[in-house]
Amino acid sequence: MLKDKRILLIIGGGIAAYKSLELIRLLRKAEASVHAILTSAGQHFVTPLSVSALCEARVFTDLFDLTAEAEMGHIELSRAADLVVVAPATADLMAKLAGGLANDLASTTLLATDKAVLMAPAMNVRMWTHAATQRNLVQLIADGVLFVGPDEGPMACGEYGPGRMAEPADILQAITAALADEAVRPALVATSTTVPVPKPSPLRAESLPALTSDALQGVRVVITSGPTHEPIDPVRYIANRSSGKQGYAIARAAAAAGAEVTLISGPVQLAPPAGVEVVQVESARDMLNAVELALPAQVFIAAAAVADWRTAATAGQKIKKVPGARGPTLALVENPDILASIAKRRKDRPRLVIGFAAETEEVVTHAKTKRVRKGCDWIVANDVTPASGVMGGDLNTVHIIDNSGVESWPKLAKEEVARRLISRIGDYFAAH
Ligand code: C5P
Repeated sequence: MLKDKRILLIIGGGIAAYKSLELIRLLRKAEASVHAILTSAGQHFVTPLSVSALCEARVFTDLFDLTAEAEMGHIELSRAADLVVVAPATADLMAKLAGGLANDLASTTLLATDKAVLMAPAMNVRMWTHAATQRNLVQLIADGVLFVGPDEGPMACGEYGPGRMAEPADILQAITAALADEAVRPALVATSTTVPVPKPSPLRAESLPALTSDALQGVRVVITSGPTHEPIDPVRYIANRSSGKQGYAIARAAAAAGAEVTLISGPVQLAPPAGVEVVQVESARDMLNAVELALPAQVFIAAAAVADWRTAATAGQKIKKVPGARGPTLALVENPDILASIAKRRKDRPRLVIGFAAETEEVVTHAKTKRVRKGCDWIVANDVTPASGVMGGDLNTVHIIDNSGVESWPKLAKEEVARRLISRIGDYFAAH
């Protein structure tokens, strides 16, 4: 699979750089060729000599190394590869690429490449969860950069949390997946010089091989996502501002953790996640039917913003505007509560039923009451006041409420919220 593939490996400055040596060894064993760029910070952790000995090729360190420029300029270096891998990807390298900075060989090469880029982040947990890094992560994903990891665990700095670089074997697996993906879809890069900003590639972002693990291997997970549309007549409907991004991110993270995922989606503008069964629905009643059909499952996650009400009757024809007359009055009736009805089932109740609570005030208090009222096991509560930018945005601040209390997470990319939620579910299954 990797035979004769050309990998350009950028090694950033972090304690995890030692794992990159093992990655090179695995790549060489798989008969891939590896060229490496070692940043100046990276040279504090591994030496050019050990990197070049393992690559069996010279190592590039300096943008202004004229000999190398004559032999193989940085543009050529990035284009001759089949895939560019950044491991460890430091907060600095992520920030540089997200911001388009190019002031050394690594950042210049990343900006000049027309090939897929796979990053394996490694940094202190606070650096990873910092708003700036999470913003950069969102930007890089939107730009089509692929990610693997970071893993959660004890760190060299003595702290615990996400930030450890993925293990070399997992990075190798992500490299294989990224190359397979490229084989079916050639590089998605704007070729016209009249388009200065490359378009974000939803397909690339959807195929994100991030967070690969087997924490939910074989577990069936059903997820609702997006808004529902409640018809008024054949052309009009009642809707809400949900983008579906959080539910889609959870579906991706669950699939990457080995789960068998059914995503029941209201109408959204998102590409279907790879490796996930997607059932498209419109109304709350359709959504409930689809969820019931998708059971049994061990986990049900209700991330959809289901309309609370629908019109009592749907007009068979478009309701006409009558000049001078009053507008029609819409009689509304309550929709079924999908979350509560699944949580309170006797037959086929999933082991873990997780709801969301979008609140605009007293977020945690209201969410605690909601958890009990709906009979679910966990509630993911978030503040959706317009100022929070959560609805439709890429970041989310959530509190996880279960029967033992409240766990508050910092403001994170929705992808990272999804990843943590899936990892928490994995821990739950391991412990119960
Ligand atoms: O009652 P509220 O809409 O705030 O509850 C939010 C939670 O309940 C979310 O998990 C949402 O997906 C779910 N819900 C549902 N069916 C409804 C209303 C909400 O599944 N009709």
